[in-house]
Amino acid sequence: MPGIIVMGAQWGDEGKGKATDQIAERVDYCVRYSGGNNAGHTVVVGDDTFVMHLLPAGILNPNSTAVLGNGVVIDLDVMHDELDALGKRGVEVPHPLISANAHIITPYHQTMDRVTERFLGKRRIGTTGRGIGPAYSDKVNRIGIRVQDLFDESILRQKVEASLERKNQALVKIYNRRAIDANQVIDGLLSHAERIRPHVVDTSRLLNKALDDDKVVLFEGAQAHHLDIDFGTYPYVTSSSPIAGGACTGTGVGPTRIDRVIGIAKAYTTRVGQGPFPTELLDESGEALRQAGGEFGATTGRPRRCGWFDAVVVEQAVNVNSATDVFLTKLDVLTGIEKIPVCVGYEIDGERTDVMPTTQSQFHHAKPVYEYLPGWTEDITGARRLDDLPTTCRRYVERLEELIGCRISGIGVGPGREQSVAVNSLID
Ligand code: GDP
Ligand code: IMO
Ligand code: MG
Repeated sequence: MPGIIVMGAQWGDEGKGKATDQIAERVDYCVRYSGGNNAGHTVVVGDDTFVMHLLPAGILNPNSTAVLGNGVVIDLDVMHDELDALGKRGVEVPHPLISANAHIITPYHQTMDRVTERFLGKRRIGTTGRGIGPAYSDKVNRIGIRVQDLFDESILRQKVEASLERKNQALVKIYNRRAIDANQVIDGLLSHAERIRPHVVDTSRLLNKALDDDKVVLFEGAQAHHLDIDFGTYPYVTSSSPIAGGACTGTGVGPTRIDRVIGIAKAYTTRVGQGPFPTELLDESGEALRQAGGEFGATTGRPRRCGWFDAVVVEQAVNVNSATDVFLTKLDVLTGIEKIPVCVGYEIDGERTDVMPTTQSQFHHAKPVYEYLPGWTEDITGARRLDDLPTTCRRYVERLEELIGCRISGIGVGPGREQSVAVNSLID
């Protein structure tokens, strides 16, 4: 012990990279359990900014071993490019340990992601185009390629050919594209086989043993609760389980091994891609938040949609994931706003609710009910203790705690590693 999960409590990009980095120094294993290189986790160390896509952000800490669990979908080109790019920047990190059961994103998954999005037109999801959905579809459809398949060429060949047979029919007949050559795909995958071979292990046994030995295991969530395939705003979601439960199914440790679940939430709300977003600001105040918060995607560079803090959204994440703590990021971005609106409930077809509605169509009709909290003008980027924050700022944090039903154990007051207010230890 302990097993700690860090996960997004909104729609992604809450600052999971920064929160992970806060405790990474004391972490023995840093583990990705879901998603793939659709993630973009930023860590700022002095003048250096690192954006990690597939590798866990904790890999930057020399004392922790990076692990990609079975729930992750791995683009091998991206993984090796990320490792090599770190090396070129003088950050030599060991190759991550990889689950033999993790699925692989192939070039045909990327192609299918892009053509299906184009085909959907106005009804598109707004995916990152990284092949995530098609790779998970193949997994569930039992025609996926797993890491272990790379070590048996004849099995790999059979699987790729079988999978491509159906996809090529669709590509040519429905999407008016050229068929994809199986040999090229197989050669591309095999080119990584020898480099990964020494690092492919039974990651479930490894992590259970680590927890038995009292090592600190950090499960680094990607995406977020409201992008979860089951609990998110379906169909505007990703295709995996970023929720806390995903850390168990995505790595092979049981629920009793988890001691802490730390939900990461921004002091306001952002979303990338399509889907409902009740507190979204479509006027100049949304643009002001985007500029103040630098809200442009770490993976695709897309401008993020911005809106006020939605306590209903975060409360559901706290509840479903049994969050023990919340780390509130980007509080500094709200400095200078005279009265800060916070969404405390919705009006849906004339009825008031304080919790997420049961059905998706109700959520699409939800109109936010706001409470207005007094703002502050003082620069808080140098604050390190609660006492350093202006009274109205502390009141904002306390009110959010009441509304979401969870203690706020850390507060981000800037992107830098040291720019945090520690309230409760995130690790002990
Ligand atoms: P993640 O995907 O959850 O790891 O979040 P991203 O890295 O995609 O986006 C978060 C952005 O906010 C990054 O640019 C971070 O450097 C930045 N950031 C994180 N915490 C804070 C904070 O407390 N204040 C400010 N101003 N920026 C922050
Ligand atoms: P991190 O880990 C924000 C969104 C996409 C799209 C939907 C489905 O950095 O918080 P996908 O490519 O996964 O099929 O896209 O999910 N999305 C994210 N939004 N942060 C992320 O990751 C995201 N990963 C996926 O924009 O709406
Ligand atoms: Mg991100």
